[in-house]
Amino acid sequence: MSTVATASPAVSRDLGYKTHSIGGFRFERDEYFAHITYPGGRHLMPIDAFLRALMRDVAWGFFYGTVNWDDVLGTVNHYGTVDLFIGLFNEAYRGSNKHYVETFESKDLKKVFDAMLEDWTNEDFDPFAAPDETGKPYGPKKGSNLKAIKRERLVANRMVGLPGDLGYRTNPLNRQLSDMPTDKPEIHAEPGFEKDVHAYNFLDYIGRSDVTWNPSVVSCVKDSQFCATTEENILPIFHGNDRVEWFVQVTDEIIWDIADGRTGKPRAKVVMKAGDVAAMPADIRHKGYSPKRSILIVWENNDGSLPERYKKGELKPYPVEF
Ligand code: PHB
Ligand code: FE
Repeated sequence: MSTVATASPAVSRDLGYKTHSIGGFRFERDEYFAHITYPGGRHLMPIDAFLRALMRDVAWGFFYGTVNWDDVLGTVNHYGTVDLFIGLFNEAYRGSNKHYVETFESKDLKKVFDAMLEDWTNEDFDPFAAPDETGKPYGPKKGSNLKAIKRERLVANRMVGLPGDLGYRTNPLNRQLSDMPTDKPEIHAEPGFEKDVHAYNFLDYIGRSDVTWNPSVVSCVKDSQFCATTEENILPIFHGNDRVEWFVQVTDEIIWDIADGRTGKPRAKVVMKAGDVAAMPADIRHKGYSPKRSILIVWENNDGSLPERYKKGELKPYPVEF
């Protein structure tokens, strides 16, 4: 492998895109690729995969634990600071001491990532959309798509559909979820409780989401967060969680690749069909494939003491023993 000094640009043609830098990292884009240079080497990713991963890392505030954009590049969230790394969880990079890590204040890295996402996303491309529901990201700079990348997160105060609270979605049900029951539930409240008893069709609400692989918190009880999402094609990142997380497959099917969190060595394939529930251990990474639009609930535990307790071995990486 040849290495380059970060002083020499990876992209010499002017295509209208800016170069974005932080610490020893430099990011450049051309028609098809994101080029990443860092002290000791260079890396590249297809621009579509790069923008989809970048969009998730930005939207999720660096998420829980590790967000692997591919087998080499990614971030580790330390909740206030964040590591940006090359090869940190790649056995070959680690084995030949070719990995590179820098730690940043989360807000500083976010600023650079926000600017890069805005600058590099062309007007036709929506990094949150399924590949079949968006235009292409390729070519020289062509406009921007702020509407797609600055979506407001929808959060209900108490519950969707209550007076004064978040309303029902009125955009169409996704083309691939049109076979779901969307009938409204009947509500029979005792007199005097009409304002306190409420129900709505959850499938109908989630099925109208126009984004993929983007869990939103639909209920929160202390540290227990239910995050519903519609999935299609490929989860753009390989998530290495720092705690256990549960998946509830609500409709259709997702196939998961499970690999060791540190080395990336394959560990399992998990096929989840509608109604299946699985726990993802705290020491793995997972990436999902959804052949058809499906609904998934991700159940996260927001207790901030968990990463340390798993690291110390105080908690087993899996939640149950049979
Ligand atoms: C996950 O990494 O657990 C994850 C992320 C986004 C999704 C689903 C699952 O849409
Ligand atoms: Fe996950």
